[in-house]
Amino acid sequence: MHNTRKITSDLVWLGASDNRLELFENVYPIPQGISYNSYLLNDEKTVLFDTVDSSVRRQFFENLRFALNGRNLDFAIIQHMEPDHCAELEDLLRIYPQAKIVCNMQIKKMIAQFFELNISDEQFMLVKEGDTLNTGKHTLNFISAPMVHWPEVMMTYDATDKILFSADAFGTFGSLNGNIFADEVNFERDYLDEARRYYTNIVGKYGPQVQAVLKKASAVEIKMICPLHGFIWRDDLGYFIDKYAKWAAYEPEDKAVVIAYGSIYGNTYDAMAVLASKLAEQGVKNIKMYDVSKTHASYIISEAFRASTIVLAAPTYNGGIFVNMENMLHDLTEHNLQNRRFAVVDNGTWAAMAGKQMKDLLALLKNCTFIEPQISLKSAMKDEQIAQIDELAAAIKADL
Ligand code: FEO
Repeated sequence: MHNTRKITSDLVWLGASDNRLELFENVYPIPQGISYNSYLLNDEKTVLFDTVDSSVRRQFFENLRFALNGRNLDFAIIQHMEPDHCAELEDLLRIYPQAKIVCNMQIKKMIAQFFELNISDEQFMLVKEGDTLNTGKHTLNFISAPMVHWPEVMMTYDATDKILFSADAFGTFGSLNGNIFADEVNFERDYLDEARRYYTNIVGKYGPQVQAVLKKASAVEIKMICPLHGFIWRDDLGYFIDKYAKWAAYEPEDKAVVIAYGSIYGNTYDAMAVLASKLAEQGVKNIKMYDVSKTHASYIISEAFRASTIVLAAPTYNGGIFVNMENMLHDLTEHNLQNRRFAVVDNGTWAAMAGKQMKDLLALLKNCTFIEPQISLKSAMKDEQIAQIDELAAAIKADL
């Protein structure tokens, strides 16, 4: 049973979604599932853009057989060798042994690392930046996109229909539910948060490389973006490209406060709840609070990319930072967040150490500064510390 959708008169979406997977990359919760996109161009030659994750292989091969409608597969363009896209390469070549693999040298090397395939050099068409492939009506241009998200990644620009096949870039977590175009859903309301969580966690570390690709893309006219996850963009592309430009430059989207706290028995939370109320009294709106023990770090990292101001509060634990806060902070610093304002609160019953150690970790981030005062709680907040909380709330408000 096939399940495809037509994109243009000669381009077909062959993707499928996995709603059973708990953790994408065995790390990121995906409560709304994930889609793996693949595309077939039916020109004088037939061209496949990437395969899929093995979890949706049956649907993919049925879609491909249907879309080819009895024709041979002439070219398989491999843009990214991560197994969520290349897992079915071996079976693809077993079923379509004459297909020529179009890729760059680094991808060819990775194919040999992932698979034991007996492919002759003649079966490869090696391409590099600026090379083209003419398939009849269409001319495909290859663009290298290193570190978006692995070093071998390349993108493909169809100069005839002005379509960018963007690999992982412009992807979104979440299954596709019949609607494969971003203009068929309320993207901002229902998917922007998951698009941000996808970008920041998967590619967020590589902002300069994303900026380099955005610069290359700005030199050509793009009417459609076909990514390997999530929606195809054919309308209001500037909206999503602007989001990417902001995320890649580590600029906050919102002047907003996010409070991420760890709290073993609730005392640190209570102090942060007071801070949130004081901020609200100061006129700060849309305050978000996250418990680092309950909220997966990927959500907090995404929120830290969205907001201008992040308050971090944690108890001292084993002479250091409360473990779930420490893990989240390591993850955050690995993603190279920049240009943010942080406020730090710690708690300790006998030797409060977490505040200094949190600041030491955050000091690794470029152009990030601290809002004072740094507050240190002793077991539980007392009324006499409310003045300090008032002072911090006023400083945060003034800084927004
Ligand atoms: Fe969707 Fe980097 O793989």
